[in-house]
Amino acid sequence: MQLKICLLPGDGIGPEVVREGVKVLKAVAQKYGHSLVLETALIGGEAIDKAGEPLPEETILKCKDSQAVLLGAVGGPKWDNLPRHLRPESGLLGIRKSLDLFANLRPVKLFPALQKASVLREDIVARGIDLIVVRELTSGIYFGEPKGIKEENGEKVGFNTMRYTESEVRRIAHLAFKIALTRRKKVTSVDKSNVLEVSQLWNEVVQEVARDYPEVELEHLYVDNAAMQLVARPYTFDVIVTGNLFGDILSDEAGVISGTLGTLPSASMGQGDLGLYEPIHGSAPDIAGQDIANPIATILSVAMMLEHSFHLQEEAKAIETAVQKTLDAGYRTADIFTQGQKKLTCSQMGDFIAMQV
Ligand code: IPM
Ligand code: MN
Repeated sequence: MQLKICLLPGDGIGPEVVREGVKVLKAVAQKYGHSLVLETALIGGEAIDKAGEPLPEETILKCKDSQAVLLGAVGGPKWDNLPRHLRPESGLLGIRKSLDLFANLRPVKLFPALQKASVLREDIVARGIDLIVVRELTSGIYFGEPKGIKEENGEKVGFNTMRYTESEVRRIAHLAFKIALTRRKKVTSVDKSNVLEVSQLWNEVVQEVARDYPEVELEHLYVDNAAMQLVARPYTFDVIVTGNLFGDILSDEAGVISGTLGTLPSASMGQGDLGLYEPIHGSAPDIAGQDIANPIATILSVAMMLEHSFHLQEEAKAIETAVQKTLDAGYRTADIFTQGQKKLTCSQMGDFIAMQV
């Protein structure tokens, strides 16, 4: 099979981790007899520097012309003071929106070998963590209008709008329930319906969708309570479905209870098979260019790509198993290194995992 993929390495450690993701992708393609057609395009700060904007038209076209997109990370202090529409983050939000990738899937799974890296108490972690955050990605307060900063009564006022249409909630809810059917059949919908109208509508629509999935248990949590329960009883969560902002916050929290953001992948999907795959960590400018970043999140994002965009389950599984074997054998990048283990650079970690597939 031919796999046509657009690479968006981006900023900071982005290019380093994408390089390792591609290394593993090539190893899998070779083993299973697939051919790769790889394009590279500019996004974020690199695009600002080279093309004057964070998301050049050419990048959108190249992504639309591919079956999947692999992204590293965007952003860095160099571009922090630019006006909002020229910031690297606008490039990322823009590509999600242009490709209509409304569903951000962020699975959080604790590797047994990394149990000690969790910030949680051992007896809690021992019960296992295996959940997925299904975050709405192209609406909510990130995109709602009106927004801006204006003058009112002699002072500045900043404002954004949290807004969801019924159909936006319905499509993400359906996806969450469908994913739950393939897992432990539980959906937790997170909102703030005790205060916000937008959440009240969210809640009502999720309940309505739930009727189509009688075998799935539905739980509702207010976002403040959800943040607490995630650390108190992480083992009870299966699928968490929530809006753009709450999902952004809770997925970082869910991420760190598994030990490190350095191993967590994500997939952003729309109606079809075209998806954008990226590690959930950022560009980490403080360690960029040193070859010490953890490439596992990107490598596992490649696994998600093979599964969701190309429906190559076996190939995806081969990557996950290779990562597991590598961790079980005691190999670690600096972020998850503890005494007595073998420390690898970013590129050595990529070599090692590629060898195991
Ligand atoms: C994420 C990031 C982005 C977001 C930023 C970089 C725009 O935090 O993917 O979680 O807020 O969605
Ligand atoms: Mn985030």
